Amino acid sequence: MRVQDRLGRPLANLRVSVTDRCNLRCQYCMPERDYVWLPRADILTFEEIETLVDVFASLGTTKVRLTGGEPLLRKDLPDLLQLLSRKSALTDLALTTNGILLADQVTALRAAGLPRLTVSLDTLHADRFQALTRFNSLDAVLRGLDGAAAAGFDSVKIDTVVIRGVNDDELVPMLEYGRGLGAEVRFIEYMDVGGATRWSMDDVVSRREMLLGLSAHYGAITPVDEQTAAPADRFTLPDGTVFGIISSTTEPFCRQCDRSRLTADGLWYRCLYAREGTDLRGPLRAGLGTDGLRRLIGETWEARDDRGAEDRLASEDRSRLIPVETLQDQPHLEMHTRGG
Ligand code: GTP
Ligand code: 5AD
Ligand code: SF4
Repeated sequence: MRVQDRLGRPLANLRVSVTDRCNLRCQYCMPERDYVWLPRADILTFEEIETLVDVFASLGTTKVRLTGGEPLLRKDLPDLLQLLSRKSALTDLALTTNGILLADQVTALRAAGLPRLTVSLDTLHADRFQALTRFNSLDAVLRGLDGAAAAGFDSVKIDTVVIRGVNDDELVPMLEYGRGLGAEVRFIEYMDVGGATRWSMDDVVSRREMLLGLSAHYGAITPVDEQTAAPADRFTLPDGTVFGIISSTTEPFCRQCDRSRLTADGLWYRCLYAREGTDLRGPLRAGLGTDGLRRLIGETWEARDDRGAEDRLASEDRSRLIPVETLQDQPHLEMHTRGG
């Protein structure tokens, strides 16, 4: 059975956060001094995640992406990948990591059946990396990416959040670096998600501006002719290099959005910007069973009309989304709890 929401969007893509913890403090995601973590007892076990993924798959989910926080902080993650990579209903399985622990784990991840990997990397300058993430760990990420390039994944992507005055002069070097590695680079507009407490529209570099800068350097840039539900629009440089831009801030893709998010403690969000989630852990642990869960998830999806990023674009007062104090009380509103 394949459910659709009120705008005809399928439940095709599930992002599963396996931990809310992170070993970086990126300015655009976790800039505060202190964070409130989810209670350990609430974190879903791998078996619970597997049960939920099976229910989602029975409703039309074919793509699963593991996220965090930083997913490689979750103990024994390859065991979960082994469970999920055996699911024939899933045509796509991927993982988004900040790369800090990647060099040590990449072989085990690949051996557990992970086909695709995305690594976040915003700068190639060590001093900027430290200013942006509070850790002096650029070398570790670069080693992780070297390992990933050698591990034989179907694809390796690099996600770069572009911030004015911080790394907006690195678009060309990032593309060159990605090309050398055989990884597709995607530039992401800085978003006013929960957690981005320092966000301001002035710091956003729009897709239009990125394309102008890149064509001034490379010459004509051609859009790749494709229709996908992926957030990235893809482009080709004159030499054939393909890259992507995710323009969630200035040109949101809500109309095609087929994704939902499961937090590490089993709250399910129908939109990155949603204030309310659906508790799946409670019913699961209370013994609701797969038929009941299927009904709960299916009916909740059928009622979905969220278009969070479009609503933000239309809002008159566009400053940061959620005050710091509210985030301390409601950590589920944080981007790092929702899975990046
Ligand atoms: P691919 O299948 O490889 O294209 O994956 P992806 O682009 O879905 O995955 P990734 O985790 O790399 O997502 C890239 C970025 O897109 C995220 O880090 C966010 O900045 C943004 N993004 C992801 N999901 C959403 C979403 O639901 N809504 C919005 N507005 N932006 C999102
Ligand atoms: N704007 C854009 N992307 C963000 N991410 C986290 N916070 C933001 C933000 N404010 C995304 C980045 C990062 C991933 C883990 O989460 O893409 O690479
Ligand atoms: Fe940075 Fe990702 Fe950690 Fe957020 S969750 S602080 S974006 S590494």
